[in-house]
Amino acid sequence: MLSRENNDLITQTGPGTPGGDLLRRYWQPVALSAELKNDVPLAVRVMSEDLVLFRGEGGKPALVGRRCPHRQVDLSYGRVEDGGLRCLYHGWLMDGAGRCLDQPGEPEGSTYKDRIKHKAYPCREMGGLVLAYMGPGAPPRLPQLPFLMAPPERSFTTKIHHDCNYVQANEGNIDPQHLSYLHRFLNAAQSVDPRVNSLLVRDTAPRLEVEETPYGFRLFAARSVDDETTYIRMSNFIMPNNSSFDGTPLVDPRSGKSRENLGYQHHWHVPIDDVSHWKYTIVYAHEIPVDLNWVQKRVFDDVTPDYRLKRDASNHYLQDREEMKTQSFAGMGQSFWAHDKFAVEAQGAIIDRSEEHLGTTDKPVMLMRRQMLAAIDAIKAGRDPQFVEREGQENALADMMVMSKVMPAKTEPASDWWRPYRPKTGPLRSID
Ligand code: FES
Ligand SMILES: [Fe+2]
Repeated sequence: MLSRENNDLITQTGPGTPGGDLLRRYWQPVALSAELKNDVPLAVRVMSEDLVLFRGEGGKPALVGRRCPHRQVDLSYGRVEDGGLRCLYHGWLMDGAGRCLDQPGEPEGSTYKDRIKHKAYPCREMGGLVLAYMGPGAPPRLPQLPFLMAPPERSFTTKIHHDCNYVQANEGNIDPQHLSYLHRFLNAAQSVDPRVNSLLVRDTAPRLEVEETPYGFRLFAARSVDDETTYIRMSNFIMPNNSSFDGTPLVDPRSGKSRENLGYQHHWHVPIDDVSHWKYTIVYAHEIPVDLNWVQKRVFDDVTPDYRLKRDASNHYLQDREEMKTQSFAGMGQSFWAHDKFAVEAQGAIIDRSEEHLGTTDKPVMLMRRQMLAAIDAIKAGRDPQFVEREGQENALADMMVMSKVMPAKTEPASDWWRPYRPKTGPLRSID
């Protein structure tokens, strides 16, 4: 459990809140690249701030306040022209740095426009994402996440709308015990990965170990397979709203076969406000191209063009009690996205953590909350929070790996067993 006060600290995300200050110290995705067309501004809401994205000079993304500084008209209706975004009402022109370039109604030679400072945040675009830094001071270095550094064919990026606070959804990523229940298939043929399904069902009480790292922590979940072997899954919490874990299986186009550890999945939970968020989902492959058609068809088939799921609370997640008898534990189809969306939305818009009764398998959830609270304290004390990296600092993510493997039973989960199996990685470009 968590006190109400601490619960508020980690779940509030608006400007000026300690939790909002924390998230604003890191680069955050604000849209998918695919959403932002040339010449068409895109209204976005991020951490309770209403903003507008547009492609300015050279197609580069720019993120500015939604309301025109003149008389507050919504700039997402504006025209992208003359090096900025022009308001439809009286023609004021704002650029991506928040400068006002033109005020057609003001007298010739007026310097009034030079005194206008519109809200504007620095943006970068990579890995199919538009990222922004919405915090104070100089932006930190971009997180050296492999999918941001890899050629585009090695990742698939999308997002899914969630009607709940972002923290509880990220807690689901570091909660491996739920894999044995929520995502269980009674009929193995229903599972995208029957072998893994059977390993998860065989031992429903994984032994969990955590190992703190500069970026957050590694999490090891060990399940007994038989007297000789154990199935270990290693995943990661990355400060302050990310997780990397073994998710969508990938198919090697060279053999047409699915193999373990070809890549992994990354979730980046970005608040729209305190009670809704976007789950940015990246399927990343270490070396091979990701078969986009396969991933789209097998995994993201139920995502609507506006990045929602057909199953939601309004239709009871289309839960089917007949399916629950023979096919799946949850009766909500094959999609893990739908299962997870159900579970985290069914906790309420914001979990009241003072009412919880945490168990043994909640150890990673407890550590994540402690790290977030410590990071909030660091900001209060005038320091950079954990995993804000500056130029010249070592890349903490160089040592981040996701892996699942059946190992000898005597293997100590929280040890270096995984290092010899680190997969070969294709080319990555450096980002600054
Ligand atoms: S309200 Fe935008 S130019 Fe007047
Ligand atoms: Fe899940």
